[in-house]
Amino acid sequence: MLGAPGAGKGTQAKMIAEKYGIPHVSTGDIFRANIKNGTELGMEAKKYMDQGLLVPDELTVKILLDRVAQPDCGKGYVLDGFPRTIPQAEVLDKALSEMGDAIDYAVNVDVPDENIVKRMSGRRACVTCGATYHIEHVPPKKEGICDKCGSELILRDDDKPETVLNRLKVYHEQTQPLIDFYTAKGVLKTVDGTADMQDVFKAIEAVLG
Ligand code: AP5
Ligand code: MG
Repeated sequence: MLGAPGAGKGTQAKMIAEKYGIPHVSTGDIFRANIKNGTELGMEAKKYMDQGLLVPDELTVKILLDRVAQPDCGKGYVLDGFPRTIPQAEVLDKALSEMGDAIDYAVNVDVPDENIVKRMSGRRACVTCGATYHIEHVPPKKEGICDKCGSELILRDDDKPETVLNRLKVYHEQTQPLIDFYTAKGVLKTVDGTADMQDVFKAIEAVLG
């Protein structure tokens, strides 16, 4: 899944994972779980995440390649938030081709910057199970509590407006070039991410078949 911060990559990736019965692999979720558990990786990642900067490629690539080597990824998986730089995409490409594999689709969820800041301030996330809500668009049944696991919902530290603006800047500089990268490989599919979530999902289903 490609797209700006808050474009809906996580929302759509979860729906894809459910429909196709494959794991949802989000580098952001992996980092947040490590921060919550106070691991060394979490401490290191937090330094960058809190500023809206990317975690260095060496660190990110390693955890991602370890994750997709797990047996549950054997029949495929949906990547959310990775790759995010050209070097990450190149390492992934090389690792996959060594396994005789390749990316099937790069789904670009397109949302203009103007919509993003507003969406982010309304987002609430569950740090225990990764479920995502929005105070207007997808409210939990009970305010502040996750419907799925009963844990407390939080406003992510990096969803403050000033950090969101920094994340958008980083997105345009470092991640947007991946649109050309995957277009050149013939796998890029762009969907309108400003539509209602269910309609965005229908557009993605039409692409994936
Ligand atoms: P990450 O967790 O990947 O954050 P992000 O890319 O900034 O994206 P978000 O998770 O904020 O947004 P999303 O597109 O998933 O949107 P969502 O579905 O939640 O990364 C966080 C940080 O970790 C990075 O800044 C970086 O530091 C680090 N990191 C992670 N991966 C890395 C990598 N590969 N390399 C280096 N560093 C890395 O939706 C947003 C909100 O909108 C929700 O409230 C949702 O309910 C709502 N919403 C969704 N769809 C719709 C819709 N269609 N209409 C209305 N509302 C909607
Ligand atoms: Mg996400």
